[in-house]
Amino acid sequence: MKIIVVNNRKGGVGKSTVSTHLASGLALSGYRVAIVDTDAQGHSAKMFGMPKENGLYRILCEEEVAFQDVVRVVPKERYAPPGYEGKPTLFILPSDKLTVRIPTDNQNPFAFRQMLDAMDELLGLDFIIVDTGPTASMFDGSVNFAANYFLYVTEMAHLSFDGLAESVREMKTLNKQSGNYRTWETQILGIVPNKTRYNTRVQRRSSEELSKEFPGLIWQSVMLATLWEECAKNGQMIFSLDPDSREAAQGYALVEQALAGMAAYGS
Ligand SMILES: Nc1ncnc2c1ncn2[C@@H]1O[C@H](COP(=O)(O)OP(=O)(O)OP(=O)(O)O)[C@@H](O)[C@H]1O
Ligand SMILES: [Mg+2]
Repeated sequence: MKIIVVNNRKGGVGKSTVSTHLASGLALSGYRVAIVDTDAQGHSAKMFGMPKENGLYRILCEEEVAFQDVVRVVPKERYAPPGYEGKPTLFILPSDKLTVRIPTDNQNPFAFRQMLDAMDELLGLDFIIVDTGPTASMFDGSVNFAANYFLYVTEMAHLSFDGLAESVREMKTLNKQSGNYRTWETQILGIVPNKTRYNTRVQRRSSEELSKEFPGLIWQSVMLATLWEECAKNGQMIFSLDPDSREAAQGYALVEQALAGMAAYGS
């Protein structure tokens, strides 16, 4: 089981859009996948037309709560194209405003990872995709600590790259500091340029700038299109809302690149 944390402190860049589409695309490819929402906005569930819930808070902070009480199965109608015969293999541990009250666990930076491992034991998962929020939360440290991979989402604008560079520095520091405590290092799986405009000079320059700074890690762009907002509004993934669209093709490309990236790292 591999844990992919979708990251960028900047708000509104498309973290939840990418997290949910990567997760559901992997599920459609036959993998068992869970989304864990660590953002108090609770958007991951909303993306599937499901309610925000305090699942994350309860499983981490309340006694005698079982995963069966808080993990939901995502109905396949929310993400699968019509006629899809596979079983639903996508789960979600939702979040809501109580998430901000989850305390830092200084005693045990492994707490979040242990929770994910226990969830895996129960559900037999291939991947856990962690959607993160724009505001720093108390337990960010243990979320980052849990990651096998970071996947960054960024808009193609010069200022957005600042935040990206900062996050990458944080990751390197984390790897250095946790060397004695972990058997793995967090790797950068990729950087997803999102809301990219077709054919403008600024976009081309930004793209060159980004490729120079992060060679080999820049994924195919997800283009700016109102269809993505329609997905969010309808609580549907692009794969079920408009399976033959070029946006759906961009969604499936996320899955291919994630699998290729992990294969390149040898997992
Ligand atoms: N490629 C795109 N084209 C147009 N709209 C997009 C695209 N990607 C995402 N959006 C829209 O932009 C808004 C923000 O996206 P999303 O919620 O995924 O960002 P986020 O990084 O998770 O935000 P937050 O930091 O608040 O968690 C949503 O309305 C979403 O539908
Ligand atoms: Mg979000």
